[in-house]
Amino acid sequence: MAAVGFGVASVIVAMVAMALSICIAEAITYPADVVALRELKAAIDPASIHSTSCVGSWDFSSDPCDDLSSTVFVCGFQCAMADDQTMRITSITLDGFGYVGTLPASLGNFSSLQLLDMSGNAFHGSIPDSISRLTLLSKLDLSRNSLSGSIPPSIGQLSSLQQLCLSYNLLGGAIPTSINSLLSLERLYLFNNRLTGGIPAMHNLNQLLFFDASNNLLSGSLSAPLPPSLMQLSLRGNQLQGRLPEDLLLLQQLEVMDLSSNSFTDAVDGALFQLPSLQQLNLSNNKLTAISIPEDVDAGSSQLIAIDISYNYIHGSLPLFLVEMKKLSALSLRHNFLSGAIPIQYALKAVASLLVGAQPLMRLYLDGNYLAGDLPAPFLRISPGTIAASFTDNCLLSCPISLPFCQGGSQKSQSECEHFTSLP
Ligand SMILES: *[C@@H]1O[C@H](CO)[C@@H](O)[C@H](O)[C@H]1NC(C)=O
Ligand SMILES: *[C@@H]1O[C@H](CO)[C@@H](O)[C@H](O)[C@H]1NC(C)=O
Repeated sequence: MAAVGFGVASVIVAMVAMALSICIAEAITYPADVVALRELKAAIDPASIHSTSCVGSWDFSSDPCDDLSSTVFVCGFQCAMADDQTMRITSITLDGFGYVGTLPASLGNFSSLQLLDMSGNAFHGSIPDSISRLTLLSKLDLSRNSLSGSIPPSIGQLSSLQQLCLSYNLLGGAIPTSINSLLSLERLYLFNNRLTGGIPAMHNLNQLLFFDASNNLLSGSLSAPLPPSLMQLSLRGNQLQGRLPEDLLLLQQLEVMDLSSNSFTDAVDGALFQLPSLQQLNLSNNKLTAISIPEDVDAGSSQLIAIDISYNYIHGSLPLFLVEMKKLSALSLRHNFLSGAIPIQYALKAVASLLVGAQPLMRLYLDGNYLAGDLPAPFLRISPGTIAASFTDNCLLSCPISLPFCQGGSQKSQSECEHFTSLP
């Protein structure tokens, strides 16, 4: 009797043990992922791993993807069951705890990784070439670290990549031409690095919506074709030169264009202001010499809200079509060589009560030019505080100091105004 009892009990124990071992087998992380995760932790300076941080909770005496325990492997990555029933690490999103370390070559061994975000830490050294093996990656964010070296050309193999964020590092060298192979790319953020060379061709990137390579050392002309899908283009603070290419007119989806603080020259093609989706245009701090009046000007349908062409060499008179834009509410043409009178239309655009179905100007900066004659009368009727404006440092006959926009500086001297020649 007793023996039978024992026999049943031991069969049950054996069955439970089998069932348990199946469960355990199913929960086990793919071995190469565990090795790569260990190596990632090992590449981080232990002194920078705080006990309450994600990596601080990585205790390899347990299985990383086994979520039975909530005290180890608390955060920093996610697992998913693969088709072959193994647990794979599919995303790594480190907390920005200020980890100091390097990117180990074994990062390329997380072969199921779709998301890699190590932003906001203090990783230094270069981006390993092996990263090109992460072909399932849809987002790679290494921004706000201290990475140096150049962007590995093999990055062009990341054919699933939708977001590439490398901003705020110390990356040098050229933007690799292989970038044009990233056919799924929607966001390309390279700003605040030390990138040199030209803007490579990107015409194959027909999903690209955002391209920001501001504050680098990029040079040459902007002659390579950009993808027509772009909504935001920012190349502010580089060393780009030459005329603004006609190809910019192909960017029919573009809402924001910031090419400020470069060395672009020649006239701004007025057609640029006619881009159908454009809302913000910043060409400030360049060497532009004129604004050509667009042909068949249809300023009324413009979506432009803010235009900044300050600190250039723009000659000529104030273009009327700018203030015919219904949505325009901020205009800066300060510090140029504009001359002639301020057209009354500029004043009318600034007085809300005189406008029907149009936005009044909230900001109007015309200071530092050679504008002459009288201030159009409607300006005198603007109630204080409704507009931020400045008309100082011009050649106006009078700019009553009682008006806020005449304060903070005087007009140019008579001799400076007389010696001004309006030719560029
Ligand atoms: C990546 O994994 C392979 C085997 O799967 C191994 O031979 C290699 O050493 C690993 N690479 C790194 C950099 O750890
Ligand atoms: C245009 O760019 C300049 C320089 O990059 C910046 O200072 C200015 O604030 C920008 N203008 C607008 C309207 O954002």
